[in-house]
Amino acid sequence: MQRPSKMRTFKIPSFLKCVSCGRKYDLKEIRYTCNCGGLLDLARDLKSVDGKGLLKLWEDRWGMKSGIESSGVWRYRELILDVPDSKIITRQEGNTRIYPAGKAGEYAGIKNFLLKHEGENPTGSFKDRGMTCGITAANIYGAKCVACASTGNTSASMASYAAAAGFKSVIFIPSGKIAYGKLAQALAYGGLTLQIDGNFDDAMTLVQEICEKLDIYLLNSINPFRIEGQKAICFETLQQLDWKVPDWFVIPGGNLGNNSALSKALMELHELGIIRKIPRIAVIQASGANPLYKMWKNNRPFEPVKNPETIATAIKIGNPVSWEKSLRGIKWSNGIVEEVTEQEIMDAKAMVDAAGIGAEPASCCSVAGAKKLVEAGIISPNDSVVGILTGNVLKDPDAVINYHTDNLRDKHIKGNFANSPKSIKATLEAVKAVL
Ligand code: F0G
Repeated sequence: MQRPSKMRTFKIPSFLKCVSCGRKYDLKEIRYTCNCGGLLDLARDLKSVDGKGLLKLWEDRWGMKSGIESSGVWRYRELILDVPDSKIITRQEGNTRIYPAGKAGEYAGIKNFLLKHEGENPTGSFKDRGMTCGITAANIYGAKCVACASTGNTSASMASYAAAAGFKSVIFIPSGKIAYGKLAQALAYGGLTLQIDGNFDDAMTLVQEICEKLDIYLLNSINPFRIEGQKAICFETLQQLDWKVPDWFVIPGGNLGNNSALSKALMELHELGIIRKIPRIAVIQASGANPLYKMWKNNRPFEPVKNPETIATAIKIGNPVSWEKSLRGIKWSNGIVEEVTEQEIMDAKAMVDAAGIGAEPASCCSVAGAKKLVEAGIISPNDSVVGILTGNVLKDPDAVINYHTDNLRDKHIKGNFANSPKSIKATLEAVKAVL
Protein backbone atom coordinates (compact mmCIF):
# COMPACT_ATOMS: atom_id res chain seq x y z
CA MET A 1 0.00 0.00 0.00
CA GLN A 2 1.31 3.42 -0.84
CA ARG A 3 1.92 5.45 2.30
CA PRO A 4 -0.21 8.58 2.31
CA SER A 5 2.88 10.68 3.10
CA LYS A 6 3.97 10.03 -0.48
CA MET A 7 0.84 11.88 -1.62
CA ARG A 8 1.68 14.91 0.47
CA THR A 9 1.40 18.05 -1.59
CA PHE A 10 0.87 20.67 1.07
CA LYS A 11 3.79 22.94 1.69
CA ILE A 12 2.65 25.69 4.01
CA PRO A 13 5.09 28.56 4.64
CA SER A 14 5.58 29.14 8.35
CA PHE A 15 7.53 31.53 10.56
CA LEU A 16 7.61 32.74 14.16
CA LYS A 17 5.46 35.74 15.01
CA CYS A 18 5.18 37.69 18.24
CA VAL A 19 1.68 37.67 19.71
CA SER A 20 2.26 41.12 21.27
CA CYS A 21 4.04 43.26 18.64
CA GLY A 22 3.65 41.14 15.50
CA ARG A 23 7.38 40.99 14.72
CA LYS A 24 8.35 38.02 12.55
CA TYR A 25 11.36 35.74 12.91
CA ASP A 26 12.79 33.11 10.63
CA LEU A 27 12.60 29.53 11.88
CA LYS A 28 16.36 29.07 11.45
CA GLU A 29 16.97 30.92 14.69
CA ILE A 30 16.32 29.27 18.10
CA ARG A 31 13.85 31.58 19.85
CA TYR A 32 11.26 31.21 22.56
CA THR A 33 10.24 34.85 22.96
CA CYS A 34 10.32 38.10 20.99
CA ASN A 35 12.80 40.89 21.67
CA CYS A 36 9.86 42.78 23.18
CA GLY A 37 9.34 39.91 25.65
CA GLY A 38 6.14 38.69 23.96
CA LEU A 39 5.36 35.03 23.28
CA LEU A 40 5.89 33.58 19.82
CA ASP A 41 3.43 31.72 17.65
CA LEU A 42 4.34 29.42 14.83
CA ALA A 43 2.37 31.36 12.22
CA ARG A 44 1.30 30.05 8.81
CA ASP A 45 0.26 31.54 5.55
CA LEU A 46 -2.99 29.63 5.00
CA LYS A 47 -4.49 31.85 2.31
CA SER A 48 -3.70 29.63 -0.64
CA VAL A 49 -4.23 26.30 1.15
CA ASP A 50 -7.00 23.99 -0.05
CA GLY A 51 -8.81 23.09 3.19
CA LYS A 52 -10.90 20.37 1.56
CA GLY A 53 -7.80 18.70 0.15
CA LEU A 54 -6.13 18.79 3.53
CA LEU A 55 -9.16 17.22 5.17
CA LYS A 56 -9.20 14.45 2.57
CA LEU A 57 -5.53 13.73 3.26
CA TRP A 58 -6.18 13.48 7.02
CA GLU A 59 -9.15 11.19 6.43
CA ASP A 60 -7.00 8.95 4.20
CA ARG A 61 -4.45 8.65 7.00
CA TRP A 62 -7.02 7.68 9.64
CA GLY A 63 -6.39 4.16 10.86
CA MET A 64 -2.87 3.82 9.43
CA LYS A 65 -1.24 0.91 11.21
CA SER A 66 2.35 2.09 11.18
CA GLY A 67 4.62 4.87 10.06
CA ILE A 68 4.91 8.46 11.16
CA GLU A 69 1.38 9.42 10.21
CA SER A 70 -0.08 6.70 12.41
CA SER A 71 0.73 9.12 15.24
CA GLY A 72 -2.25 11.15 16.38
CA VAL A 73 -0.06 14.23 16.06
CA TRP A 74 1.82 13.70 12.79
CA ARG A 75 -1.39 12.63 11.06
CA TYR A 76 -1.96 16.39 10.90
CA ARG A 77 1.63 17.24 10.11
CA GLU A 78 0.78 20.00 7.63
CA LEU A 79 -0.50 22.07 10.55
CA ILE A 80 2.06 20.81 13.07
CA LEU A 81 5.59 21.22 11.73
CA ASP A 82 7.03 20.84 8.28
CA VAL A 83 10.00 18.50 8.80
CA PRO A 84 11.48 15.52 6.97
CA ASP A 85 10.48 12.08 8.26
CA SER A 86 14.04 11.33 9.29
CA LYS A 87 14.01 14.11 11.91
CA ILE A 88 10.74 13.18 13.59
CA ILE A 89 10.85 11.59 17.04
CA THR A 90 7.49 9.99 17.66
CA ARG A 91 6.02 7.33 19.92
CA GLN A 92 2.70 7.10 18.06
CA GLU A 93 1.30 9.53 20.60
CA GLY A 94 -2.31 10.62 20.53
CA ASN A 95 -4.92 8.21 19.15
CA THR A 96 -6.68 8.56 22.48
CA ARG A 97 -10.26 7.52 23.07
CA ILE A 98 -13.27 9.71 23.55
CA TYR A 99 -15.80 8.38 26.07
CA PRO A 100 -19.42 9.19 26.84
CA ALA A 101 -19.09 10.72 30.31
CA GLY A 102 -21.63 8.32 31.88
CA LYS A 103 -21.97 8.98 35.61
CA ALA A 104 -19.79 12.06 35.28
CA GLY A 105 -22.21 13.40 32.68
CA GLU A 106 -25.20 12.84 34.98
CA TYR A 107 -23.26 14.52 37.76
CA ALA A 108 -22.50 17.55 35.59
CA GLY A 109 -26.08 17.66 34.32
CA ILE A 110 -25.14 17.41 30.64
CA LYS A 111 -26.79 14.89 28.30
CA ASN A 112 -24.26 15.02 25.51
CA PHE A 113 -20.98 15.08 27.42
CA LEU A 114 -17.89 13.42 25.96
CA LEU A 115 -14.52 13.04 27.64
CA LYS A 116 -11.41 13.00 25.48
CA HIS A 117 -8.89 11.00 27.48
CA GLU A 118 -5.42 12.37 26.98
CA GLY A 119 -4.22 10.23 29.87
CA GLU A 120 -4.05 7.42 27.29
CA ASN A 121 -0.92 8.88 25.71
CA PRO A 122 2.39 6.95 25.94
CA THR A 123 3.50 8.61 29.20
CA GLY A 124 -0.02 9.07 30.53
CA SER A 125 -0.72 12.72 29.77
CA PHE A 126 -1.49 15.15 26.94
CA LYS A 127 2.08 16.44 27.16
CA ASP A 128 3.28 13.76 24.74
CA ARG A 129 1.56 15.54 21.87
CA GLY A 130 3.50 18.73 22.40
CA MET A 131 6.64 16.82 23.29
CA THR A 132 6.95 14.88 20.03
CA CYS A 133 6.92 18.22 18.24
CA GLY A 134 9.23 19.97 20.73
CA ILE A 135 11.81 17.19 20.75
CA THR A 136 11.69 17.02 16.96
CA ALA A 137 12.46 20.76 16.90
CA ALA A 138 15.35 20.09 19.30
CA ASN A 139 16.59 17.46 16.86
CA ILE A 140 16.36 19.85 13.93
CA TYR A 141 18.29 22.50 15.86
CA GLY A 142 20.97 19.96 16.73
CA ALA A 143 20.37 20.11 20.50
CA LYS A 144 21.75 17.27 22.59
CA CYS A 145 20.40 18.39 25.94
CA VAL A 146 16.84 19.50 26.78
CA ALA A 147 15.30 20.94 29.94
CA CYS A 148 11.99 21.90 31.48
CA ALA A 149 10.41 23.06 34.71
CA SER A 150 7.45 20.92 35.58
CA THR A 151 4.68 20.05 37.96
CA GLY A 152 5.36 16.47 36.83
CA ASN A 153 3.77 15.54 33.53
CA THR A 154 5.93 17.63 31.23
CA SER A 155 9.03 16.20 32.90
CA ALA A 156 7.78 12.61 32.59
CA SER A 157 7.06 13.18 28.92
CA MET A 158 10.30 15.03 28.20
CA ALA A 159 12.42 12.38 29.94
CA SER A 160 10.76 9.66 27.88
CA TYR A 161 11.12 11.44 24.53
CA ALA A 162 14.68 12.51 25.31
CA ALA A 163 15.48 8.86 26.02
CA ALA A 164 13.96 7.90 22.67
CA ALA A 165 16.06 10.57 20.93
CA GLY A 166 19.26 9.81 22.83
CA PHE A 167 19.35 13.30 24.39
CA LYS A 168 20.21 14.23 27.93
CA SER A 169 17.28 15.69 29.88
CA VAL A 170 17.36 18.03 32.85
CA ILE A 171 14.24 18.44 34.94
CA PHE A 172 13.43 21.17 37.46
CA ILE A 173 10.64 20.26 39.84
CA PRO A 174 9.29 21.86 43.00
CA SER A 175 10.67 19.83 45.89
CA GLY A 176 8.16 17.40 47.43
CA LYS A 177 5.26 18.87 45.48
CA ILE A 178 4.75 16.59 42.51
CA ALA A 179 2.67 13.45 42.36
CA TYR A 180 4.57 10.22 42.91
CA GLY A 181 3.72 8.57 39.62
CA LYS A 182 5.25 11.50 37.75
CA LEU A 183 8.42 11.64 39.83
CA ALA A 184 8.80 7.89 39.33
CA GLN A 185 8.58 8.33 35.56
CA ALA A 186 11.20 11.08 35.44
CA LEU A 187 13.64 8.88 37.36
CA ALA A 188 12.77 5.74 35.43
CA TYR A 189 13.31 7.35 32.03
CA GLY A 190 16.70 8.63 33.13
CA GLY A 191 16.11 12.38 33.46
CA LEU A 192 18.54 14.35 35.63
CA THR A 193 15.95 15.36 38.22
CA LEU A 194 16.63 18.52 40.20
CA GLN A 195 14.24 19.16 43.05
CA ILE A 196 14.44 22.86 43.74
CA ASP A 197 13.71 24.68 46.92
CA GLY A 198 10.74 26.63 45.56
CA ASN A 199 7.49 26.25 43.64
CA PHE A 200 6.80 25.70 39.94
CA ASP A 201 7.00 29.41 39.16
CA ASP A 202 10.49 29.60 40.70
CA ALA A 203 11.52 26.53 38.69
CA MET A 204 10.18 28.13 35.51
CA THR A 205 12.21 31.31 36.05
CA LEU A 206 15.34 29.27 36.80
CA VAL A 207 15.06 26.96 33.80
CA GLN A 208 14.73 29.87 31.39
CA GLU A 209 17.93 31.38 32.72
CA ILE A 210 19.75 28.03 32.66
CA CYS A 211 18.73 27.31 29.07
CA GLU A 212 19.85 30.72 27.88
CA LYS A 213 23.20 30.64 29.68
CA LEU A 214 24.09 26.96 29.19
CA ASP A 215 22.84 26.48 25.65
CA ILE A 216 20.24 23.87 26.58
CA TYR A 217 17.04 23.53 24.55
CA LEU A 218 13.97 24.60 26.53
CA LEU A 219 10.92 22.35 26.30
CA ASN A 220 8.29 24.12 28.37
CA SER A 221 5.17 25.29 26.57
CA ILE A 222 6.74 28.73 26.16
CA ASN A 223 8.41 26.86 23.29
CA PRO A 224 6.09 27.51 20.31
CA PHE A 225 6.61 24.02 18.87
CA ARG A 226 5.14 22.42 21.98
CA ILE A 227 1.94 24.33 21.37
CA GLU A 228 1.85 23.17 17.74
CA GLY A 229 1.89 19.50 18.78
CA GLN A 230 -0.79 20.04 21.39
CA LYS A 231 -3.14 21.38 18.73
CA ALA A 232 -3.60 17.78 17.65
CA ILE A 233 -5.94 17.17 20.61
CA CYS A 234 -8.39 19.42 18.82
CA PHE A 235 -7.81 17.97 15.34
CA GLU A 236 -8.20 14.41 16.56
CA THR A 237 -11.29 15.12 18.66
CA LEU A 238 -13.04 16.76 15.73
CA GLN A 239 -12.02 13.96 13.38
CA GLN A 240 -13.49 11.43 15.85
CA LEU A 241 -16.69 13.49 15.78
CA ASP A 242 -16.71 13.49 11.97
CA TRP A 243 -15.88 17.20 12.08
CA LYS A 244 -19.14 18.02 13.87
CA VAL A 245 -18.11 20.83 16.16
CA PRO A 246 -19.42 20.64 19.76
CA ASP A 247 -20.92 23.66 21.49
CA TRP A 248 -18.22 23.67 24.15
CA PHE A 249 -14.72 22.52 24.96
CA VAL A 250 -14.00 22.47 28.70
CA ILE A 251 -10.34 22.25 29.68
CA PRO A 252 -8.21 22.70 32.82
CA GLY A 253 -5.81 25.65 32.94
CA GLY A 254 -2.40 25.70 34.64
CA ASN A 255 0.49 27.16 32.68
CA LEU A 256 -2.20 27.86 30.04
CA GLY A 257 -0.44 26.26 27.07
CA ASN A 258 -3.01 23.58 26.35
CA ASN A 259 -6.02 25.85 25.93
CA SER A 260 -3.87 28.22 23.86
CA ALA A 261 -3.14 25.28 21.57
CA LEU A 262 -6.82 24.35 21.41
CA SER A 263 -7.89 27.81 20.30
CA LYS A 264 -5.02 28.11 17.81
CA ALA A 265 -6.06 24.81 16.23
CA LEU A 266 -9.65 26.00 15.97
CA MET A 267 -8.57 29.33 14.47
CA GLU A 268 -6.57 27.56 11.78
CA LEU A 269 -9.38 25.09 10.96
CA HIS A 270 -11.79 27.99 10.77
CA GLU A 271 -9.52 30.02 8.51
CA LEU A 272 -9.20 27.00 6.21
CA GLY A 273 -12.98 26.57 6.08
CA ILE A 274 -12.69 23.05 7.56
CA ILE A 275 -15.03 24.13 10.35
CA ARG A 276 -17.61 26.92 10.20
CA LYS A 277 -18.88 26.87 13.76
CA ILE A 278 -16.67 28.14 16.58
CA PRO A 279 -17.10 26.18 19.83
CA ARG A 280 -16.87 28.07 23.10
CA ILE A 281 -13.83 27.34 25.24
CA ALA A 282 -14.20 27.18 29.02
CA VAL A 283 -10.89 27.21 30.90
CA ILE A 284 -11.12 25.91 34.46
CA GLN A 285 -8.61 26.80 37.16
CA ALA A 286 -8.29 25.57 40.73
CA SER A 287 -9.44 28.32 43.11
CA GLY A 288 -6.05 28.29 44.88
CA ALA A 289 -4.12 28.80 41.63
CA ASN A 290 -6.41 31.06 39.66
CA PRO A 291 -4.62 34.12 38.19
CA LEU A 292 -6.45 33.91 34.86
CA TYR A 293 -9.82 33.54 36.57
CA LYS A 294 -9.16 36.59 38.76
CA MET A 295 -8.16 38.65 35.76
CA TRP A 296 -11.23 37.54 33.83
CA LYS A 297 -13.74 37.87 36.65
CA ASN A 298 -12.56 41.25 37.87
CA ASN A 299 -11.67 42.59 34.44
CA ARG A 300 -8.29 43.75 35.61
CA PRO A 301 -4.68 43.39 34.41
CA PHE A 302 -2.91 40.08 34.83
CA GLU A 303 -1.35 39.56 38.23
CA PRO A 304 0.37 36.36 39.39
CA VAL A 305 -0.96 34.46 42.41
CA LYS A 306 1.88 34.40 44.97
CA ASN A 307 1.59 31.11 46.83
CA PRO A 308 -0.55 28.86 44.65
CA GLU A 309 -2.06 25.89 46.46
CA THR A 310 -4.20 23.01 45.22
CA ILE A 311 -4.49 19.25 45.53
CA ALA A 312 -4.42 19.24 41.72
CA THR A 313 -0.62 19.62 41.82
CA ALA A 314 -0.38 19.54 38.00
CA ILE A 315 -1.92 23.01 37.88
CA LYS A 316 -0.43 24.48 41.04
CA ILE A 317 0.89 27.48 39.11
CA GLY A 318 0.63 31.14 40.06
CA ASN A 319 2.39 32.80 37.14
CA PRO A 320 1.41 30.97 33.94
CA VAL A 321 3.64 31.82 31.00
CA SER A 322 0.99 31.56 28.28
CA TRP A 323 -1.75 33.76 29.74
CA GLU A 324 -1.73 36.16 26.78
CA LYS A 325 -2.19 33.41 24.20
CA SER A 326 -4.81 31.84 26.41
CA LEU A 327 -6.80 35.04 26.74
CA ARG A 328 -6.65 35.65 22.99
CA GLY A 329 -8.22 32.25 22.33
CA ILE A 330 -10.88 32.50 25.01
CA LYS A 331 -12.01 35.89 23.69
CA TRP A 332 -11.96 34.67 20.08
CA SER A 333 -14.18 31.71 20.97
CA ASN A 334 -16.56 33.76 23.10
CA GLY A 335 -15.37 31.56 25.92
CA ILE A 336 -15.17 31.86 29.66
CA VAL A 337 -12.88 31.23 32.64
CA GLU A 338 -14.19 29.51 35.76
CA GLU A 339 -12.66 28.36 39.03
CA VAL A 340 -13.43 25.27 41.11
CA THR A 341 -12.76 24.46 44.75
CA GLU A 342 -10.70 21.57 46.09
CA GLN A 343 -13.86 19.74 47.10
CA GLU A 344 -15.41 20.26 43.67
CA ILE A 345 -12.28 18.90 41.96
CA MET A 346 -12.12 15.77 44.09
CA ASP A 347 -15.87 15.04 43.96
CA ALA A 348 -15.83 15.43 40.16
CA LYS A 349 -12.81 13.13 40.09
CA ALA A 350 -14.69 10.54 42.12
CA MET A 351 -17.41 10.64 39.44
CA VAL A 352 -14.98 10.38 36.52
CA ASP A 353 -13.29 7.48 38.29
CA ALA A 354 -16.58 5.78 39.24
CA ALA A 355 -17.63 5.98 35.58
CA GLY A 356 -14.73 3.59 35.00
CA ILE A 357 -12.81 6.22 33.08
CA GLY A 358 -10.43 7.58 35.72
CA ALA A 359 -8.16 10.61 35.57
CA GLU A 360 -5.81 12.60 37.78
CA PRO A 361 -7.17 15.50 39.87
CA ALA A 362 -6.25 18.40 37.54
CA SER A 363 -8.04 16.68 34.65
CA CYS A 364 -11.26 16.59 36.57
CA CYS A 365 -11.47 20.37 36.64
CA SER A 366 -13.11 19.85 33.25
CA VAL A 367 -16.03 17.99 34.82
CA ALA A 368 -16.19 20.13 37.97
CA GLY A 369 -16.12 23.28 35.82
CA ALA A 370 -18.75 21.99 33.39
CA LYS A 371 -21.08 21.22 36.30
CA LYS A 372 -20.59 24.68 37.72
CA LEU A 373 -21.26 26.33 34.36
CA VAL A 374 -24.46 24.28 33.95
CA GLU A 375 -25.61 25.35 37.39
CA ALA A 376 -24.89 28.97 36.47
CA GLY A 377 -27.02 28.59 33.33
CA ILE A 378 -24.04 29.25 31.03
CA ILE A 379 -23.80 25.74 29.60
CA SER A 380 -27.24 24.35 28.75
CA PRO A 381 -27.96 20.69 29.70
CA ASN A 382 -28.69 20.13 26.01
CA ASP A 383 -25.41 21.57 24.74
CA SER A 384 -22.85 19.21 23.29
CA VAL A 385 -19.75 19.39 25.45
CA VAL A 386 -16.28 17.87 25.14
CA GLY A 387 -14.23 17.79 28.34
CA ILE A 388 -10.51 17.22 28.08
CA LEU A 389 -9.08 14.75 30.60
CA THR A 390 -5.41 15.63 30.64
CA GLY A 391 -3.77 12.90 32.75
CA ASN A 392 -4.05 9.26 33.78
CA VAL A 393 -5.67 8.13 37.05
CA LEU A 394 -2.43 6.36 38.10
CA LYS A 395 -0.36 9.53 38.06
CA ASP A 396 -1.45 10.50 41.55
CA PRO A 397 -2.39 7.43 43.64
CA ASP A 398 -2.01 9.38 46.90
CA ALA A 399 -4.87 11.71 46.00
CA VAL A 400 -7.11 8.73 45.22
CA ILE A 401 -6.33 6.74 48.37
CA ASN A 402 -6.55 9.77 50.65
CA TYR A 403 -9.93 10.78 49.23
CA HIS A 404 -11.38 7.28 49.51
CA THR A 405 -10.09 6.82 53.06
CA ASP A 406 -11.34 10.30 53.98
CA ASN A 407 -7.83 11.43 54.80
CA LEU A 408 -7.96 14.87 53.27
CA ARG A 409 -9.71 16.66 56.12
CA ASP A 410 -6.56 18.70 56.79
CA LYS A 411 -7.06 20.13 53.29
CA HIS A 412 -10.76 20.70 54.02
CA ILE A 413 -11.78 18.00 51.53
CA LYS A 414 -14.37 15.41 52.57
CA GLY A 415 -14.55 11.95 51.01
CA ASN A 416 -18.12 12.60 49.87
CA PHE A 417 -18.14 9.68 47.45
CA ALA A 418 -15.54 7.59 49.25
CA ASN A 419 -15.19 3.90 48.42
CA SER A 420 -12.99 2.90 51.30
CA PRO A 421 -11.30 -0.50 51.54
CA LYS A 422 -12.74 -2.81 54.19
CA SER A 423 -10.65 -5.14 56.35
CA ILE A 424 -12.39 -8.46 56.95
CA LYS A 425 -11.65 -11.94 58.24
CA ALA A 426 -10.79 -14.54 55.58
CA THR A 427 -14.12 -16.38 55.92
CA LEU A 428 -17.24 -16.89 53.81
CA GLU A 429 -19.41 -15.30 56.54
CA ALA A 430 -17.29 -12.20 56.64
CA VAL A 431 -17.53 -11.80 52.85
CA LYS A 432 -21.30 -12.37 52.91
CA ALA A 433 -21.67 -9.71 55.57
CA VAL A 434 -20.06 -7.00 53.44
CA LEU A 435 -21.59 -7.95 50.06
N1 F0G B 1 -3.66 18.83 33.46
C1 F0G B 1 -2.53 18.17 33.72
C2 F0G B 1 -2.63 16.73 34.09
C3 F0G B 1 -1.28 18.83 33.61
O1 F0G B 1 -0.17 18.16 33.85
C4 F0G B 1 -1.26 20.19 33.27
C5 F0G B 1 -0.01 20.92 33.21
C6 F0G B 1 -2.48 20.83 33.02
C7 F0G B 1 -3.66 20.12 33.12
C8 F0G B 1 -2.56 22.24 32.62
O2 F0G B 1 -2.15 22.45 31.30
O3 F0G B 1 -0.33 24.04 31.79
O4 F0G B 1 -1.17 23.72 29.49
O5 F0G B 1 -2.58 24.86 31.19
N2 F0G B 1 1.11 20.46 33.60
C9 F0G B 1 2.40 21.12 33.40
C10 F0G B 1 3.53 20.19 33.77
C11 F0G B 1 2.49 22.47 33.95
O6 F0G B 1 4.62 20.67 34.12
O7 F0G B 1 3.37 19.00 33.66
P1 F0G B 1 -1.53 23.86 30.90
